[in-house]
Amino acid sequence: MFFTGLSGAGKSTIANVLLVKFLEAGGRPVTLLDGDIVRTNLSSELGFSREHRDINIRRIGFVASEITKNGGVAICAPIAPYESVRQDVREMIEDVGGYILVHVATPLEVCEERDVKGLYAKARAGLIDSFTGISDPYEVPENPDLVIDTTDITAEEAAQQVILHLEKEGFVGPR
Ligand code: ADX
Repeated sequence: MFFTGLSGAGKSTIANVLLVKFLEAGGRPVTLLDGDIVRTNLSSELGFSREHRDINIRRIGFVASEITKNGGVAICAPIAPYESVRQDVREMIEDVGGYILVHVATPLEVCEERDVKGLYAKARAGLIDSFTGISDPYEVPENPDLVIDTTDITAEEAAQQVILHLEKEGFVGPR
């Protein structure tokens, strides 16, 4: 399960709700590859140029493909602003198992208003370069499996939409 969207869109929050639900259900082993966690533990030397973001996403894709190959569930939640590398990851995963792309499409205005980490304010003030949505691009996914805008719904409701989609596609059985 690959979540993409702007910083503050709600990717990590939804991913965490799903992680807990999957752990409680006690089926396949589940691994969360959250943007910030990966940046700290796997990609700490990388910055935010297109080249470095693409390397970061390829690493996430590689780890997720190993997990998928071994029968696990990987929940990935980076910004992943570029279409072509997202497409590469889809192909890597589809070779070994199921893949769904969720675009967490909360509008920039809402993400900026939330500004949970205070990074939008810093980006507007010119203290952070190449900030996605402000001074760096976000390419809207061309073929998402699901689009969720968290402006008016809770993370719990958003996670429920993902689960309904997984049930519809036959990835999980109805409870
Ligand atoms: S990605 O583009 O490579 O997918 P990733 O999800 O790993 O990004 O990291 C994004 C997180 O890094 C954001 O949630 C934010 O906390 C932090 N960050 C720091 N600098 C930037 C920047 N220039 N653009 C976007 N996010 C940034």
